[in-house]
Amino acid sequence: MRKSIVAGNWKMNMGLKEGIALFSEISELLKEEVNGDQGVIVCPPFIHISSLAQSLESGDKLQLGAQNCHQSDSGAFTGEVSASMLASAGAAYVIIGHSERRLYFSELNPDLAKKLDVVLKNGIAPIFCIGETLEQRNDGSYFEVIKSQLSEAAFHLAEADFSKLVIAYEPVWAIGTGLTASPEQAQEIHSYIRTLVAEKYNQSLANDLTILYGGSCNPKNASELFAQPDIDGGLIGGASLKARDFVDIIKALDQK
Ligand code: 13P
Repeated sequence: MRKSIVAGNWKMNMGLKEGIALFSEISELLKEEVNGDQGVIVCPPFIHISSLAQSLESGDKLQLGAQNCHQSDSGAFTGEVSASMLASAGAAYVIIGHSERRLYFSELNPDLAKKLDVVLKNGIAPIFCIGETLEQRNDGSYFEVIKSQLSEAAFHLAEADFSKLVIAYEPVWAIGTGLTASPEQAQEIHSYIRTLVAEKYNQSLANDLTILYGGSCNPKNASELFAQPDIDGGLIGGASLKARDFVDIIKALDQK
């Protein structure tokens, strides 16, 4: 049985005070309204993680994730944060390979392979992002792009490690644009990802893999996307900054 998950990526938004208030609002709404067994992850900026972790209570549905980490364990990398630091602060997940990291910080598949290694070594589950640009969608190379992102960054992993990954399919053209992939477009890629994983590893690992959709997902379109057989939840940007919208998206998974 694969796990359904909704994860919020706050990106570079929310001061500490606002972040604490948003997190507690989400937590309250979840307690009042959500009974399903879907996982809920919030990925705030680094500086929020330890404060938010302290506010978690045992049995809480919410878990914390980070948005990035460095590929080394420790050392002279001014301004960077390591996976072991994230684990010590209370992060259970970390987003790796978000398209904004690939685009603005020149992260390439081999860098991401190293990041996946160090994250897994520290007992954190990666939310590994893949997805094509608009140009690649239009020129028809998107299947090849997805295949190389997955194989170059993650297919070196042993089966036991790969099984700890959450994959997020985020078409770059749908991120922050209001242009959502249609449920059929998203389903096509999610199913393709599962096929690639079955070919590389095995069918049962592919069946158990959680694959999230990300890109302009909101309370209006979430149910339709989550109804697709290979879509196991969402990685949410803008709509995760409003507690009401984020929780409504989480509730859309109840129907799955
Ligand atoms: P939006 O939901 O704002 O399009 O962002 C998606 C995303 O990049 C999540 O990681």
